[in-house]
Amino acid sequence: MDYAKIQQAANYLKEQAKVQPKIGLILGSGLGVLAEEIEDAVRTPYDQIPDFPVSTVEGHAGQLVFGTIHGIPVVAMQGRFHYYEGYSFEQVTFPVRVMKELGVESLIVTNAAGGVNKDFEPGDLMLITDHINNMGSNPLIGKNDSRLGVRFPDMSEAYSKELVNKAKTVANNIHIKLQEGVYVGNTGPTYETPAEIRMFRTLGGDAVGMSTVPEVIVARHSGLQVLGISCISNMAAGILDQPLNHEEVIETTERVKENFLRFVKEMVKEMGA
Ligand code: HPA
Repeated sequence: MDYAKIQQAANYLKEQAKVQPKIGLILGSGLGVLAEEIEDAVRTPYDQIPDFPVSTVEGHAGQLVFGTIHGIPVVAMQGRFHYYEGYSFEQVTFPVRVMKELGVESLIVTNAAGGVNKDFEPGDLMLITDHINNMGSNPLIGKNDSRLGVRFPDMSEAYSKELVNKAKTVANNIHIKLQEGVYVGNTGPTYETPAEIRMFRTLGGDAVGMSTVPEVIVARHSGLQVLGISCISNMAAGILDQPLNHEEVIETTERVKENFLRFVKEMVKEMGA
């Protein structure tokens, strides 16, 4: 990870943005609508930011949005970079480094995920309490730059317990049903086989997806506190007698976006207080 590139991207963005963000948001498939709720928004397309990769997946707009939510300064990634698109882990996690350089203290990571836990149903929101990295590599492999973090980062609290507890209180207060569990990160782009899903369940997984894990590893390396939220967009392969498709993922996130928006905005308020 090239520190000079991180600084260059951050310096460019500091000139664009009016506020110094305190909280960073990564908005997953179908969840980019949250960026439309940001007040006094300044939008910067990824292709204008030095060294930023450019997003290609449908349903991802591909811009950084600076502004405020409930008066709290935030920066949101509307559209993220996926490993399956062909980006390296370094590219996938570059925006997290830049957010850290911009002064962000905590990161809210969101995604659409398949439900592995049979007690879940499509449309549920799941608080990520931990993850399993099944992506076959780690974004920190290579020479460590000690300006960015330590060689052997602790992952015993990848997802902040304090934020998990806050999230439960907030969900309770605003009457939103919140599941919790372990997110399994796979590379995609294929959905999993039923046998793989049985394996993940046996191993302690509650949801599966194709993102989040690299970003969270880099966030923890950078010293950011992390809150993770999955929108269970479908039941994972083999649970129901039906094939999986991306349209279903988008339809479900569309259906539950009111609750998702309310919950995340309330969390920003709580975290920024
Ligand atoms: N598997 C992997 N990624 C996903 C899924 C799934 O079932 N649903 C949404 N993203």
